[in-house]
Order: sequence, then structure tokens, then C-alpha cells
Amino acid sequence: MKRIQAFRLLFLSTSIAFTMGASAQTSPRLSISDTAGPQISKHIYGHFSEHLGRCIYDGFWTGDHIRMDIVEALKKIKIPTLRWPGGCFADQYHWRDAIGPREQRKKTINTNWGMVVEDNSFGTHEFLQLCGLLGCEPYIAGNVGSGTPEEMSNWLEYLNFNGHSTLADLRRQNGREQPWNVAFWGVGNESWGCGGNMTPEYYSDEYKRYAEYCRNYPGAPLKLIASGANGPDYNWTEVLMKNIARSHVWGVSMHYYTLAGTWAHKGPATGFGEEDYFKALSACLRMETIVSKHSEIMDKYDPRKRIALVVDEWGIWTDAEPGTNSSFLYQQNSLRDALIAATTLNIFNNHSDRVKMAALAQTVNVLQALVLTDKDKMLLTPTYHVFDLYKIHQDAHSLVIKLNSPDYSFGTGKIPAVNASASKDSSGAVHISLVNLDPNKKITVRTSLAGIKFQRVQGQVLTSAKFNDYNSFDQPDRVKPAVFNGAKKDGNDLVVEMPAMSVVVLELN
Ligand code: AHR
Repeated sequence: MKRIQAFRLLFLSTSIAFTMGASAQTSPRLSISDTAGPQISKHIYGHFSEHLGRCIYDGFWTGDHIRMDIVEALKKIKIPTLRWPGGCFADQYHWRDAIGPREQRKKTINTNWGMVVEDNSFGTHEFLQLCGLLGCEPYIAGNVGSGTPEEMSNWLEYLNFNGHSTLADLRRQNGREQPWNVAFWGVGNESWGCGGNMTPEYYSDEYKRYAEYCRNYPGAPLKLIASGANGPDYNWTEVLMKNIARSHVWGVSMHYYTLAGTWAHKGPATGFGEEDYFKALSACLRMETIVSKHSEIMDKYDPRKRIALVVDEWGIWTDAEPGTNSSFLYQQNSLRDALIAATTLNIFNNHSDRVKMAALAQTVNVLQALVLTDKDKMLLTPTYHVFDLYKIHQDAHSLVIKLNSPDYSFGTGKIPAVNASASKDSSGAVHISLVNLDPNKKITVRTSLAGIKFQRVQGQVLTSAKFNDYNSFDQPDRVKPAVFNGAKKDGNDLVVEMPAMSVVVLELN
């Protein structure tokens, strides 16, 4: 963990100077051309749920059932994928502990997250039932750190074999006749840290050994995802790609968390000032450089972009909410975090040639959650609303954009105030998502649309009076989207008046 933290600290200290090509104070201009770029995979809009704090237990799973209010909320945003069971937990997870009659399941200890007793009442069947209810694809992270190739291979047989083997029949005995045909499969998690403290050379060999025994059962081809880099650890990707690019691999992962401070002092989730706001947004914008550099390395070994970059953990990580168990990573979620989500999704959309999957950490009650619960109450966070607004990009074709942004300056630092992405869906509708990070200025963006004809523009906006506003159980709708009337057609240009600190999503027909 120390090694990881040192790397992350070094990384953060450079973040304030980062400007992502911010120009001098130019007039904000966005050009969008009708050249269809790569498809924006819906899996970029995926989520992550670990056995950690109140994400699974007292989150998705209460008593002996799945919470349907959470399911309905996630169906509304068209959740495409859910990653499970970790995180660090994945490399201590033994799937056989959590199948069969619940009262007979093993009681283990969640040594990563607070030493709480894990009664394994939520296991393989419950997770896949949850994915069925959500209508999303499961993404399971297998155990490399403390497991064996045999254990991983047996789990896959249990999940995906349609014939009559002992393990497939055990699945039937436990109530599931048909195989689930799980495709997305992680070979370990953070193998450089909590997943086994490996070097990239050692992990590459382990990857090939485990992957060898991950069989494609009839009708169930696997999409294997190798455990990837810690943020800007480009050497990890270099070594991994060099060694495994020709093996059975669908994707290489990468994790990057946004911090307003350091790992020791991350800063609060609410009640922060403009300095923390600026630092967090600067750190979030580093995702652009990190994704670009990993992609460049991958291009060397995989010029045809067959292998996906999978950002399967991202989001802001703050200090835990005062008065809660700090190992449970429960944090509130403000307008700032919505701006971070919208900016990051714009970055992924603009890199959809290589980034084909991502997962925000973590869906319910942990880190940058979409949903918070308190007994039977549930609220939707500002981040949830971003995923709701942005669902129109799922599986649409990205459009090539050029953007001149003015700077947002704070102290001696500056970052581009505006970021954007655009796509065209199968019905021909064009969607543009814009973010104004400047908390003090509204910004008018003139947009030229080469080759795009439209008659009508409509939109929605997400903003609030203060950047640290959030939704509480007393005021669950303080930050929520509203109809946006600030976009006007001017010839074939579009003039968009963006409020300070806002996300605007437009539809052009
Ligand atoms: O999301 C919390 C933890 O962050 C995950 O378990 C781990 O993969 C990462 O370090």
C-alpha cells in the first residue's frame, strides 16, 4: 500500500500545474464536424460494486433481498455493466464460500475493509440475479492474489458450462438451470498492490498462466481483462502489452482516482472552499493525459486497437463522512463531483477509439456513489444525474470536436474552463455535452456545426447555487437537472450560454 501511496502522492503534486492545453483568454469556440468517429461503447458508462462498507450489505442487499428502489434507479440510467466482487476484496474472495443454502455458507473476514465478518449471503447467484434485474452485463474480477488457476477455472465452469459436469450440476442443484454466459472477466485486480504486490513482469507471466485455464465454453466466449496500471504507471502498461498483446486478452485495465489533497488528507466531501474545488478539478483533468499516454503505448503493440483500455475504477475519493467507519469509505457527493463525472465522461467519449469500458467507484454508499441510502430512504446524488443526462451517448458514434476554451484561474494555477464531447445516435440526433468548470463566470460558447443540419435544439442543465451543494436525506432534490433554455440557433451556429459550474446536455434534431 505504501508503494502505491507514494506513487499517487508524486502524481498529485504535479496536478495543479496541469492545463490540458488551456489557451489564453480566447473567445470560447466549439467546432463539431459530421465525421463519425468510433462508437462510444455503452460500457464506458459502467459501475463498480465491491464488498466494502455499505455497498453490498445494507446497500444493494438488505436482509435477504435485493433493494428494488436501487434497481429501478439504475435501470433508468441504463446501467450497462456492473463490476464485482472487488476491488481489493476480489483477491481474497473464494467463490465456493458463497454458494448453496445461505445458512450453511462460510463466515469469513473482510480483511481489506474493516475486518468485518462476511457471511457470504450475497454470492454468485445473488450477484447474477441482480444483474438480471438491472438488465446489465456482469463483469466479475477473479482472484489471482490468493487464488489458483484451478479455482478460477472451476468458477468459470460453474458459471458458463451448459452440459452435465459435476460443477454445472452443482449450479443446477443451487437453483440455476441455464449457464449465465458471463463474458467480462478480470484476471486479478491491482496486482501491483492489494492484488499481490507483483511486478509487471511477474504479473504478465501470471496473467498468461491464469488466462490459459479461462476456457471459452460453447456459446460463452470470454472477454478477459488484465489487471492494469496505477494511474500514470506507464511502465506497467508497456511491460504488460509487450508480454500479453498476442495472448487471449480483450482489455487492459487502469485505475485512477481524483483527490483534492493527499492520500493522508484527502479533504472533505462537503463544506470545502474554492482551493479544494480547484485542486480536485485539476486532478480530474489529469485523466486526459493518463488515458492519452496509456493509449500511445498500447498503439505500439496493438496498432489496430483490438485491445480495450478499461478504466474500471475512477472517481473522486474524499475523507470519509465524519461519524462513519472510515474503513467503509462512505462519502457525500456534491455538485463538484457531478462536474468531475461529466468531465471524465467527456474525456472517455473523446477517447472511445481505445477506452471501451469503465466503471465508476462505487455505485451505492461508497466513494463517488450514484445512490446513498439510510435505512429505507434512498437519494440520488448529483453524480447520478450526470449519468442520467449522458446516457444518450451510449453506443452512439462520437463526433470529432475542436474546442478553444478560456482558462479558469485560481491562485497561480489555471485549467481549461470548458470541456465537451458530442455524438450522433442511430436516429440521427446529435447530442453535445458541455461542462463549465468556472465557479465564478458564465461562459458563452459559440458552436459551429460543419455539415450538421438541425431545426430544433433542446437541453437540460445541472447546476446549483454553490459548488459544494449536495443532496441530503432532508433535501434530496437540491441538486437536480432542469430544462435548459440557454442554447439558441444563430444561422447554422449554436450559441450556448453556460451558467457558472454547470453541465449542459443538448439534443439537436
Ligand atoms: O474502490 C476502493 C479500492 O480502491 C478498491 O478495492 C481497490 O481496487 C482500489 O485501490
